[in-house]
Amino acid sequence: MKAALFYYATLLTAAFAHPGHHKAHVPTGSFIEWAPAGPNDVRGPCPMMNTLANHGFLPHDGKNLTQEVVTKGLGDALNFDAALIQVMFKQALPANPDFPNASFFDLNMLNTHNLLEHDASLSRLDAYFGNNHVFNQQVFDQTKQYWVSPTINASHITNSKLARMLQSKASNPTYKFTNTTEAFSIGEILAPFIAFGDVEMVTVARNLVIYFFENERLPVKLGWSRKTNAVALTDILDLAAKLSNASTLFTGVSPLPGTGKRDVAISQRDVHAAFGLL
Ligand code: HEM
Ligand SMILES: *[C@@H]1O[C@H](CO)[C@@H](O)[C@H](O)[C@H]1NC(C)=O
Ligand SMILES: *[C@@H]1O[C@H](CO)[C@@H](O)[C@H](O)[C@H]1NC(C)=O
Ligand SMILES: *[C@@H]1O[C@H](CO)[C@@H](O)[C@H](O)[C@H]1NC(C)=O
Ligand SMILES: *[C@@H]1O[C@H](CO)[C@@H](O)[C@H](O)[C@H]1NC(C)=O
Ligand SMILES: *[C@@H]1O[C@H](CO)[C@@H](O)[C@H](O)[C@H]1NC(C)=O
Repeated sequence: MKAALFYYATLLTAAFAHPGHHKAHVPTGSFIEWAPAGPNDVRGPCPMMNTLANHGFLPHDGKNLTQEVVTKGLGDALNFDAALIQVMFKQALPANPDFPNASFFDLNMLNTHNLLEHDASLSRLDAYFGNNHVFNQQVFDQTKQYWVSPTINASHITNSKLARMLQSKASNPTYKFTNTTEAFSIGEILAPFIAFGDVEMVTVARNLVIYFFENERLPVKLGWSRKTNAVALTDILDLAAKLSNASTLFTGVSPLPGTGKRDVAISQRDVHAAFGLL
């Protein structure tokens, strides 16, 4: 899940037709059946794509994820809108080394560092420290420290994101986190609310999220079920805006003394005017 993709989707959704489905080659998943990756199966840094492969909503081997396969899988499992998935899919294709000729990706192609995969993940090591794509309990335990109530809210999730960023910045000499990473990261932290929670309230049951991350399995046995309404782009954009706003150590903005208007204050060339640029 990528916020940037959703931002682009705002502009692009209307332009895309829903792709047709052909039955052949498109797996039919199960909410009940589940098996972890076997020796010939590949997985990647995305806990949800791994999960859907484990359930067979995506090919269990994690390979040859074409647009129609991803559209059917994310639609069947999570009720994601097809046009939105199309945009996400196109954003993922550059992960295939054959891009721009590629028509699919494999989950392990997503491992390429600083393409889509990035530092300061909630549940994976930074590439600098080792494996950047397998679930890492120690990293996730740091994240969980900030999920301090049975219901995760916007403060909890953004606190864990900021903590992971600070941890990486302080310890990883190759730490990289650009504005594009931020957009992706916001898309990732909103994902649990979208898949398992209440989008209006911006809340999600902590036990569902922890079960999902730690098992790479849909939390069906904890009472979760697929949302009956298709995930709307407006829900996602609204969540992204709220979580982006909350992803700061500032508590808000204060107007500059006098005018309360930043552009006027800056034009005065007061020695403090630069604060208005922050
Ligand atoms: C075409 C579909 C998708 C692609 C290509 C994709 C790709 C990725 C990639 C490359 C990452 C790693 C980012 C990092 O370094 O932390 C990631 C992380 C993540 N993805 Fe996805 N994703 C997709 C769909 C989804 C969906 C549908 C969800 C859930 C609704 C989801 C939830 C997450 C979460 C929660 C993370 C953060 C993991 C962490 O920080 O440890 N993704 N995804
Ligand atoms: C990938 O899937 C497509 C369509 O589902 C199929 O035509 C193609 O043969 C598959 N490729 C591989 C390498 O399995
Ligand atoms: C993509 O295909 C075109 C036409 O077949 C070819 O000229 C080009 O070299 C290919 N690019 C890559 C990256 O394989
Ligand atoms: C999240 O819950 C905490 C209590 O654990 C509360 O202090 C905080 O204000 C809540 N944040 C939001 C955005 O509701
Ligand atoms: C990041 O910043 C650059 C330069 O301001 C801008 O061109 C680009 O659109 C931004 N990207 C995102 C995802 O915000
Ligand atoms: C943005 O965050 C500030 C302070 O953290 C909060 O007062 C405000 O309501 C938030 N705005 C939105 C649109 O969520």
